[in-house]
Amino acid sequence: MPAPNASFATRAIHAARRVEASSPRATPIHLTAGFTFDDFDHAAEHFGDGTGFGYSRTGNPTVRAVEHSLAALESGSDALLVASGQAAVVTALLTVAGAGDHVISSTHIYEGSRGLLLDNLSRLGVETDFVDDIADPDAWRALIRPNTRALFAESIANARNDILDVSSIAAVADEAGIPLIVDNTLATPYLLRPLEHGAAMVVHSASKFLAGHGSVLGGVLVDYGRSDAARTGHLYPHLVLPGRGGVPSVASRHAGAARIAYARESVAPRFGPTPSPLNAFLIGQGVETLGLRMERQSRNALEVARWLESRDEVASVDYAGLPSHPHHALATRLLPDGFGAVFTFTLRGGEPAARQFVERVDVITHMTHIGDVRSLVLHPATTSHAVRTDAERHAHGVLPGTLRLSIGIEDVDDIVADLSRVFAAAREVVS
Ligand SMILES: Cc1ncc(COP(=O)(O)O)c(C=O)c1O
Repeated sequence: MPAPNASFATRAIHAARRVEASSPRATPIHLTAGFTFDDFDHAAEHFGDGTGFGYSRTGNPTVRAVEHSLAALESGSDALLVASGQAAVVTALLTVAGAGDHVISSTHIYEGSRGLLLDNLSRLGVETDFVDDIADPDAWRALIRPNTRALFAESIANARNDILDVSSIAAVADEAGIPLIVDNTLATPYLLRPLEHGAAMVVHSASKFLAGHGSVLGGVLVDYGRSDAARTGHLYPHLVLPGRGGVPSVASRHAGAARIAYARESVAPRFGPTPSPLNAFLIGQGVETLGLRMERQSRNALEVARWLESRDEVASVDYAGLPSHPHHALATRLLPDGFGAVFTFTLRGGEPAARQFVERVDVITHMTHIGDVRSLVLHPATTSHAVRTDAERHAHGVLPGTLRLSIGIEDVDDIVADLSRVFAAAREVVS
């Protein structure tokens, strides 16, 4: 506390410094750049071993609380929250790969991740090969080289709704002593926990279902915490060799959790995609209702997909929950609690019909986002997949009449009524 006779400017800054001890029910939002040290030694200890909190870029109690929650939900040993899903993907990849290394990725991934691999990591000397038939373990195995450092895929992929058989591809990664990193954004840990099926790391865009409200961006990496330095340390020297100035290696300090410890100590704070504590709080609020939302959204999506498949205007529906989808059997085995809420369908009327559709919907919102409590629509061919060639788009199920839906928690009858109204209006124009 400032002395009573301190000047106005000093009192304005220091008079509110007293913090009352309390036990709030909600996670407190520690919206602060950093934390005061108790004394000289406390500061030195924090810088020495990283315990406690010093500066929000290297750790924050609100962020940490959400990390504990997400690690528990994904059955991981630890989690690292970052500023966006894109930051989670790049942090995960830079934790395992550097110049001269190689990554194998599913070709059915979010366009931002694909661009990161092709345009950005390539410039840093990380090469990528892509697998199209992600269900075939041999297709992955055939691309593994001595310098391959990770396999990367999405559990439920956009746009064709390809489903990753996590255990069989995790086994291929494990044979080579490298992690399978799964982007689990579309499934969420409510529907699928890839670490329980042998994946070593999970990443998410927390901006989507985890938050659910569409108000913030965020991303998370979760690690299973069982990396084996004796078996695979030669592939990851940055984890097993002493650090600059003789600091003991990450593996000697963190054992099986070395990979996520390295991401936390060395990758995220240096590249700097720090989440705002306020955003972390909002993601934490969203996560509390994740199960209810996923249950409802998956049920709504299945009903909408079935309805669309029955319509003459619709040429095809790519939803793994439908028996017509090539991965339906795998999806039924892997996703017993629901098939997620994001899928595409293709209108027979091509781009003109798609244009009319997005301009006529009312309950469904036209925007580039998924996993919101609101139902959303986007025309991938002219937006997210616009930079792909026609042949690539075709191979990925993105045709001129294809639309992506992310189904929300509205009453499903109102979503179907919105679709019905749009189709009826299109028929009137034609007749
Ligand atoms: C599957 C998937 N992964 C990662 C991302 C990137 O997440 P963010 O937008 O939070 O950076 C997205 C964004 O749409 C996504 O759909």
